Amino acid sequence: MAHAVALERDFERFKRALPRDFPDHVRLTYRIDLTARYLGERIPHPIGKGSGQLSLNAGQLEGDAAAGLAFVVLKTVIAQDEKGAQSMAAWAIHETKMQVERRRSATGRTGWTVTWKGRGWDRSLEEYLALVRAGRDLTRAEGLLVVPSVKYHLPRLGEPFRESEYRHTTGRLAEAWRDAPLLLEKDFSPTLAGDRLAEDRAQIVRWLREVPERIRAAAPLPVRLALKLMNARFDDDFQHEMMDAASSADALVVFNRLFDQRQGVAYGGLELSDRNLRVLNRPPDRPTARPPLSGTGNITSGRMIVEYAVRGCSSVQLHTFFQLPLEEYPATDGSRTQRALHVLVFDPRDGLIAVMLEREAAGTLARRGGELHFLDLAGAR
Ligand SMILES: Cc1cc2nc3c(=O)[nH]c(=O)nc-3n(C[C@H](O)[C@H](O)[C@H](O)COP(=O)(O)O)c2cc1C
Repeated sequence: MAHAVALERDFERFKRALPRDFPDHVRLTYRIDLTARYLGERIPHPIGKGSGQLSLNAGQLEGDAAAGLAFVVLKTVIAQDEKGAQSMAAWAIHETKMQVERRRSATGRTGWTVTWKGRGWDRSLEEYLALVRAGRDLTRAEGLLVVPSVKYHLPRLGEPFRESEYRHTTGRLAEAWRDAPLLLEKDFSPTLAGDRLAEDRAQIVRWLREVPERIRAAAPLPVRLALKLMNARFDDDFQHEMMDAASSADALVVFNRLFDQRQGVAYGGLELSDRNLRVLNRPPDRPTARPPLSGTGNITSGRMIVEYAVRGCSSVQLHTFFQLPLEEYPATDGSRTQRALHVLVFDPRDGLIAVMLEREAAGTLARRGGELHFLDLAGAR
């Protein structure tokens, strides 16, 4: 009861300014440990920013560090060889116009989606490396974990991987990052899912089996690799087959946006979280072989974070929720990142704290050493 009163009070007063060290406050006030994990790194809470248009420049990263975000994945860069050739050049296109809009799911409920025809990083590799260096400095000085993201050559069955692209791009990223290990995400995007390249299941499975080894072999220093899996245009069983095929990755990001073949655009909203959670409902066939998970897709509340967490996700990556019209957030001041964190963590009904306390009351989450732990949610269904 005392916690409920404190939560109402914190929700109200943090509307004006969310303290950057809010995980410490949560631990002291509610005895809740929000510690989470992404790519083998311990982070103070589970909420990070997924790769995209909100991690394109150093200013955005600085704002996120100041807001107390746990991690940021940089926009996906398209790999190139030493001569600058890009086999995936079709993904390096320029497009600025983004539309944040409501999208109705098949069951008639509405959620948010961002409609955008662009794809990957559309500036030079040199400019991307400057952003990686800015990210590296913030990771060291400010504790915001910054992770680059790459789209490398994906061959057709029977064709070899273009090793020169893997070697050149990974080498340059390692040089920019300097210290081992190099943390990296490899994006399998919704537009790839909609491309003819991804019509063949055996071809996709081969990519997921072989890409981690290609990247590790190409890197001059140890790499920790997350594969961001797409929602392929096949059934739920195939999503499981992809997770099994990707078992040599160090983490899996599950799962990138859906692809609307008719409109030719990627989309999110409730259909995305419905599909992702449904696929994650099924336990793995070989649990020991599955890499740790990071959830993504229509996360707009602490309650939704918990839905991903109980299905095994030790962190989450949001994009759309950091892009809503300002009046959608209950906070009255601060950056979008601060306002989003405020409601995700402190909302008295659907925030992360409220839902963890609710689970304690229902007997589905127990205190250890007097504390509730975010990471104990995994498997606590
Ligand atoms: C405009 C936009 C651009 C994106 N660009 C990338 C990208 O370059 N690489 C990537 O891995 N994911 C990209 N994403 C996917 C997001 O990182 C995220 O995983 C996805 O949108 C689902 O989360 P959400 O429902 O919170 O937006 C993009 C998403 C949006 C909306």
